[in-house]
This record gives sequence, structure tokens and C-alpha cells, in this order.
Amino acid sequence: TDTAIIVVAAGSGTRLGRGVPKAFAELAGATILEHALRGLAGVDVSIVVVVPVGFEADASAAAERAGVVASVVVGGATRADSVAAGLERVGEERFVLVHDAARALAPRSLVERVVEALRSGERAVVPVLPVVDTIRESGAAGLGRIVDRSTLRAMQTPQGFDAQLLRAAYAEALARADSTDDAQLVQALGEPVASVPGDELAFKITTAADADRAEALLAPEGS
Ligand code: C5P
Repeated sequence: TDTAIIVVAAGSGTRLGRGVPKAFAELAGATILEHALRGLAGVDVSIVVVVPVGFEADASAAAERAGVVASVVVGGATRADSVAAGLERVGEERFVLVHDAARALAPRSLVERVVEALRSGERAVVPVLPVVDTIRESGAAGLGRIVDRSTLRAMQTPQGFDAQLLRAAYAEALARADSTDDAQLVQALGEPVASVPGDELAFKITTAADADRAEALLAPEGS
């Protein structure tokens, strides 16, 4: 294959409040990581999973249950550190996707849309959705003006990149270890970032309410 995907699953997930790293919390009988990997079954990509130290065997087991082959590496203190760790394991593939395990319900069609955009010539591509809430600025002096939401887009993953470009972005980015958006690092190099339509199902499981929503979506019909 010409494409690798780094699935970052090394976060602690304290906002979920399950007492285990978020990707290893269970929803409807399988871990968040296993659900995320199921979305990659049958997609023509090589998979690198990035996990907290001590969870390597659990990640391999999740991959096996999901029916995918994955190599597993240990991540770092920030998401960017974890992506960098994953990038070191990626081989010679021409394209690299970076995906949050926490977007456990991201459908295969979304992954394929990103890969397709790369194969048709984009060098950096991000799935986006319109913003549905009214958004207002906030600062030390209290609430500020409303931002015209028609000009805003919410970023999802997987984000896709020319592998060389992503490596260059990460080589430059060590100073910004707090970045949570890979495309931002590519943009900082002056590179354009394209978008493809995101998918509502690719929401990030962050809070207990998100986990409940995911579980409801995973529940078999009529149960
Ligand atoms: O915390 P949040 O849900 O925004 O993290 C997004 C993704 O990045 C999650 O899948 C999480 O496991 C991953 N992550 C990571 N290493 C970190 C922090 C977050 O792999 N140090």
C-alpha cells in the first residue's frame, strides 16, 4: 500500500472519567480503540497504533479482534509527541493519515475520502464539518462578539498528508508540542490545506455524554 495511518490512542482521557486511558475504556463490549480499528478493516492502509506504556498487548489484542494488522508503539506526554512517535514507526509509504482513536465511530467511507484526496494530488487534507452552535469570543473582560459561524469549520480526523510534508512539519514543530491539529503544523510551513466533507459519526468521544451517544449508536437495532 502507499498509505499508512497513525491511530493515536495514548491519551489519559481524564475527562471521560473511566479510570483507564480513554482508548481502553469499553463501549458496547469493545474498547474505544477496537471500535476505531474496526473502521479501518478492509481499508488499504498499514496501521500504527500509539498507546500509553503498558497497553501494548491490549492494543495488539484489539487489532486482532478488529481484524486488522497493526504495529504498536508507545506514545508521549502530548498528542503531538504521540504522533511523532507513530511517525518514527511509519515505513516508506507515500501518504500518512493521522487519526484519533477517540473518533471511534469514524466510518470507513471517511477514511477513504481522505485517501482519495491524497491520491488525486492534495498534499494535506482535513475532514471538516460546519459549526452548528453560535460561537462567541471570550476573554478576560467577559464575553465578546459573536463570530460569524458560516466562516467556521470544525476539524475532524483522519487528516491526511504527503508523508514527507508531515515529517517536515513535525521536524519544525518540536517547539509546539501542545498542538492538537496536525494540519496546523503543515500550514505553519506555508502549505495549503484542503478539506473534504467530514462525518457526524467521526465525533470525538471526550465526555461521559459522548460515550453514551457512541454506545447508543453502537447498540444493535431494537435492543
Ligand atoms: O484528549 P483528546 O481526546 O483530544 O485526544 C485526541 C486523541 O489524541 C485521542 O485519541 C488520544 O488518545 C490521543 N492522545 C495521544 N497522546 C497524548 C494525548 C492524546 O495519543 N499524549
